[in-house]
Amino acid sequence: MVDLVANKVHDEQRQGEAFAPFANDVNQYNKKFYIESYGCQMNFSDSEIVASILQTEGFGATRNYEEADLVLLNTCSIREKAEQTVRKRLTEFRKIKEAKPGMLVGVLGCMAERLKSKFLEEEKLVDIVVGPDAYRTLPVLIEEAETGQKSVNVLLSREETYADISPVRLDSNGVTAFISIMRGCNNMCSFCVVPFTRGRERSRDAHSIINEAQDLFDRGYKEVTLLGQNVDSYYWIDEANDEMVTFAKLLEKVALVSPQLRVRFSTSHPKDITDEVLFTMAKYENICNYIHLPLQSGSTRVLQLMNRTYTREWYKAKVNRIREIIPDCGISSDIIAGFCTEEEQDHEDTLGIMQSSAYDMSYMFFYSERPGTLAARRYKDDIPEEIKKRRLKEIVDLQGKLSYESNKKDVGKTFKVLIEGNSKKSETEWKGRNSQNKMIVFPKGNYNYNIGDYAFVKVADFTQATLIGEVVI
Ligand code: 5AD
Ligand code: SF4
Repeated sequence: MVDLVANKVHDEQRQGEAFAPFANDVNQYNKKFYIESYGCQMNFSDSEIVASILQTEGFGATRNYEEADLVLLNTCSIREKAEQTVRKRLTEFRKIKEAKPGMLVGVLGCMAERLKSKFLEEEKLVDIVVGPDAYRTLPVLIEEAETGQKSVNVLLSREETYADISPVRLDSNGVTAFISIMRGCNNMCSFCVVPFTRGRERSRDAHSIINEAQDLFDRGYKEVTLLGQNVDSYYWIDEANDEMVTFAKLLEKVALVSPQLRVRFSTSHPKDITDEVLFTMAKYENICNYIHLPLQSGSTRVLQLMNRTYTREWYKAKVNRIREIIPDCGISSDIIAGFCTEEEQDHEDTLGIMQSSAYDMSYMFFYSERPGTLAARRYKDDIPEEIKKRRLKEIVDLQGKLSYESNKKDVGKTFKVLIEGNSKKSETEWKGRNSQNKMIVFPKGNYNYNIGDYAFVKVADFTQATLIGEVVI
């Protein structure tokens, strides 16, 4: 099955292609590691924690797997296709390893957790299997693997947040960075494998989050994205100050690091995002007006089977509340086509909510049954593939129109844009995002802007994925 995603620009950001890091200082380390990350932003963020752990063990990052002593794949299990992609990649590394027997291959992340030692039986040339809560043990596992043993640690933890580990920023533009604020998920959406692969929800020490944001800002970063499977349920008790830090409080604390530091977050669950969060967003200019609010389905009946714990009316009311408190808020969504028992009317209900929510962007998927999930145990995956495909296409087409409409409305408006780098097409153009997370491209002209500067850009034109503008002074 093929996952269709409408917006390539955002797609790169979230459901990212694998990426390999680059480090200038690789020669100062005795050994080299190469890492590819698949799946969600959390995995990319975890790879930066892994890089930090490996660096203290004398491993430098390389972009060239041929010179690596250790190759790691940080994997995703969310849909079957994600797992197939990793398996294919492992087959390629198998060939490379045959020519270079000393090289160790490790599998990290959700697939490691899901398949555990089965991985070693299935993929004979994998040496190390490490789940998302066991990265601290990597040095020991590598040592074991170096002696020819296979090493596995897939223990999940109720406490691990890697709070004290300072991530090594991989492939960074030096402007935007992720900060992981919590791990795991307690929600048990029936289609989702994450609660099984990433374990129970736990929040990270708020001081360590703020320190990380401050440190990034001191090093020239201008935007942080606070990451969690369900950020709105962030909760941490600051015993020293007798304070309960909710997500809204945390957002405020990070926003106060500097008005020059933009703050984003992902992902929000519609049942948990509070007015307090929305008012905090409205209060601080540097908290970006953008919410990723996954719908999954627009049918109350299907939502119930999905165990999403809200109805279509609740979702609609939430979108209205967002628009009331933050009128210019960008909203995006995740949508699953063809969940178990989905009828034409349910699908129409999804299209209806997409229309009324007027999403700027969505990530859209076929339902893919995942072993062990509540849905796999309780319901039959009974929607034929052609129907799933047809419904997904209708969803993707509608999102295309909505994105187009949303961009069209921006023509003539001026946005504050954080410059992230050269546009893909030309070195004479900058690219950057506005508060609503839309990519804007504009000519550099004679202005003396640099990466990491803010520019005011008036939109003159657009495509489905990008706004095109000119600097205004
Ligand atoms: N099949 C299809 N899509 C899924 N997602 C999660 N599990 C599945 C599945 N089994 C989607 C949801 C979620 C996003 C990260 O991936 O839309 O929000
Ligand atoms: Fe999965 Fe639902 Fe948790 Fe998101 S909120 S990670 S979809 S269980």
